[in-house]
Amino acid sequence: MARLLHIEASPRGAESFSARAAAAFVDEYRRSHPQDEIEQLRLFEHGLPDFDAEAAAQKMQHIAQLMRGEQGVAPIGKWAGVVAEIERLKAADKVLISTPMWNFSLPYRLKHYLDIVLQPGLTFYVNRRGEYIGMVRGKPMQLVIASGSAYAPGFPRADGGTKTDFLQAYLQHVGRWMGFEDIRVIRIQPTANPVPGEADALMRGGIEEARAAARLF
Ligand SMILES: Cc1cc2nc3c(=O)[nH]c(=O)nc-3n(C[C@H](O)[C@H](O)[C@H](O)COP(=O)(O)O)c2cc1C
Repeated sequence: MARLLHIEASPRGAESFSARAAAAFVDEYRRSHPQDEIEQLRLFEHGLPDFDAEAAAQKMQHIAQLMRGEQGVAPIGKWAGVVAEIERLKAADKVLISTPMWNFSLPYRLKHYLDIVLQPGLTFYVNRRGEYIGMVRGKPMQLVIASGSAYAPGFPRADGGTKTDFLQAYLQHVGRWMGFEDIRVIRIQPTANPVPGEADALMRGGIEEARAAARLF
């Protein structure tokens, strides 16, 4: 039995392209992997701990302790919430992230989540040569990304100097940083296409792609 964690970063529910494609993914995954457990983390509904002065101070203390060869900060105060989210992530065997593009990048709730789980000694460490080594290894990650405009693969991609996709590159980067080597991507774009009927066709294509991806996940 494996555990799939679905992290949903659009607040738009039934209107959301990324959430609808992810729902199709989860539905097909459940059908094709009936033994597996699925957990959904809706970032706009789930109360993440604030990463505030207390959490930042604990992080700095944690790093100082790790550098002295100690264990790091105990899970108390804000750090308890940080450790709990990391445990949830590590308990998963497979991770699905569905997200919109907001302002060429990620929605703030997803950044909030990543600022919580990206912690030295817990999800990555730095070796003596200064290299970053991921600690969340051996798990595939599926990204489902919806954006109003269409973006060509590759980074940086300047489109007349106004459109650059910082989202996919960033998510792939932090995924690899934590140790995810197998990162798969589904793009649903351009969702803001004004041609009548095109949005429905785009959604149907995204759902089909998501279902096919789920069978192989
Ligand atoms: C706050 C906000 C910022 C957005 N910024 C961009 C953007 O920079 N580039 C883009 O192509 N679309 C942008 N969009 C459009 C969304 O990416 C598009 O509506 C997408 O379908 C959202 O994903 P969802 O349907 O899963 O919620 C933005 C939408 C919102 C609400």
